[in-house]
Amino acid sequence: MCGIVGYIGYREAYPVIIKGLKRLEYRGYDSAGLVLCEEGKFKLSKTKGKVSDLEARAEKEISLTGTMGMGHTRWATHGVPNDVNSHPHFSNSGELVIIHNGIIENYEPLKKELINRGYTFKSDTDTEVLVNLIEEIQKKDNLKLGKAVQVALNQVVGAYAIAVMDTKKPDEIVVARLGSPLAIGIGEGEYFIASDASPFIEYTTNAIYLEDEEMAIVRLNKPMKVRKIKDDSLVDPYIQQLQMNLEQIEKGGYDHFMLKEIYEQPSVIKDTYRGRLHANKGMIQMAGVEDNIDKFTNANRILIVACGTSWHAGLVAEYIFEEFSRIPVEVEYASEFRYRNPIIYPDDVVIAISQSGETADTLAAIKLAKEKGAFVFGVCNVVGSSISRETHAGAYTHAGPEIGVASTKAFTTQITVLTMMALRLAKAKGTMNTSDYQRYLLELELIPEKVEEALQTNEVAKMIASIYKSAPNCLYLGRGYNFPVALEGALKLKEISYIHAEGYPAAEMKHGPIALIDEHMPIVVIAPKQNHYDKVVSNIQEIKARSGKIIAVVTKGDTQVRALADHVIEIPDTAEALTPLLTTIPLQLLSYHIAVMRECNVDQPRNLAKSVTVE
Ligand code: F6R
Repeated sequence: MCGIVGYIGYREAYPVIIKGLKRLEYRGYDSAGLVLCEEGKFKLSKTKGKVSDLEARAEKEISLTGTMGMGHTRWATHGVPNDVNSHPHFSNSGELVIIHNGIIENYEPLKKELINRGYTFKSDTDTEVLVNLIEEIQKKDNLKLGKAVQVALNQVVGAYAIAVMDTKKPDEIVVARLGSPLAIGIGEGEYFIASDASPFIEYTTNAIYLEDEEMAIVRLNKPMKVRKIKDDSLVDPYIQQLQMNLEQIEKGGYDHFMLKEIYEQPSVIKDTYRGRLHANKGMIQMAGVEDNIDKFTNANRILIVACGTSWHAGLVAEYIFEEFSRIPVEVEYASEFRYRNPIIYPDDVVIAISQSGETADTLAAIKLAKEKGAFVFGVCNVVGSSISRETHAGAYTHAGPEIGVASTKAFTTQITVLTMMALRLAKAKGTMNTSDYQRYLLELELIPEKVEEALQTNEVAKMIASIYKSAPNCLYLGRGYNFPVALEGALKLKEISYIHAEGYPAAEMKHGPIALIDEHMPIVVIAPKQNHYDKVVSNIQEIKARSGKIIAVVTKGDTQVRALADHVIEIPDTAEALTPLLTTIPLQLLSYHIAVMRECNVDQPRNLAKSVTVE
């Protein structure tokens, strides 16, 4: 969480920083701040609130000139979101300034020690402790900034991506990373620093992603040096050519990123299977799977670890893998898995799913699984992300940048990747008959146009939203493949509209949640015409008998549920295991419209951040 950005070069730093912060705001938006360096002097402006608040304040408060500077957008960990706790933070002398994404876990003993040495603190943050620790080390041993940062980082426990500047070195920024992402853009006579490459994509496509426990000293007109924090050894960094373009990170005429990303689903699902799904040849080819096919076919078990929406995609995959490839699957919250001494056998395959590729709990679960000897496969969206690098092999989802905090296209592309994997394994293991296998390939190929059709439910979703926008609670029910879709529908609603919502397997309703049902309770029932249809119809009858308001997602042409439900949303027919790719679309639209009608901040819901790099 938190976004950091920095610039050193020949341009004015302020526009680069402000624009960069706006692009990184998805990472946290409790407060924002920036510092510019001009003629060896720092100019600081920071505020509780969004980057737009910072912009308004900075323009009044400081002169916006200077060709070196850095900025921060914060998701609060230590200390409430207020002006004082906002980054950047100065050291006591005012000579050093820092921005930080992460958590310093041992900040309390370090702070006590610094207080004993006469240091004072303005904020409640762990970050202010770190900058003073660097200052103390620098002063005590008369060290250069880079060396002092290195010594300090060897004393801290926790996670960080930091950038530090020193008034005595007005042509240098020192950066370091452990557990939080940090990219360095390399231009001609200029460097950019950021949590991801979006702040500098229009200036350069050459970038280095620092690895964990690496630091770099970025100096004006000098080659950059990357070193290991632990032993000071020099590293030869790999310079990547970025594929991202500016259009992908802008709204393109939509009111919100979330809506743009919902509407991108037909094309990004196609991007996900392009070059991998060859329905006419009866083939699926995914390099990461092909190269490790024995690992998968010999696996006794697949363990899926993920968080949030990615965990829901994992639950859908559990049904699909077990059905298609007859491999037992367990799906775990990464945050639980990592702390419960899980039993992992060497012939287990662990699949880690993550849009950002940076989620701290998922990353820790991967490390644990590797330590225990498992083969770990990543399903990530962000190319070059920590998880994509930490896993043994993987498959990218190719959804393009997802900027709306609520995940949409990441979910459907994750399911697409996992479905292709399950089909590939089914073929390798001979667990699916040829005609079903071929039917699924053909159906998967048709999904983008069916998603396009499902998007036509927008108007009906909007109309339903206008009726239930003030509901305090909402239930989502589904069975089989669509039980995880119920969970995902509920998550989408609660996170962007702040309406309390819960997802349940439809049959579980009678074991408790049914007590909540009265004439005020909207209940979204996912009822495509598939295996569990009759059972779901019975559940709908039970709701009706208690006067609940039924919003049913049904297969086009359905009459039975239509006769019972208060509202129906029709989606096209498809093969059963692929229904989540369609049923999820109207649920995304429903949440979106309710949130807009409630005047919520759709793209940046309160208290959330896109990339959860703290545990
Ligand atoms: C919900 C949402 C989150 C993420 C979760 C995991 O809309 O976006 O629940 O799914 O934080 O993030 P990734 O997939 O980046 O690991």
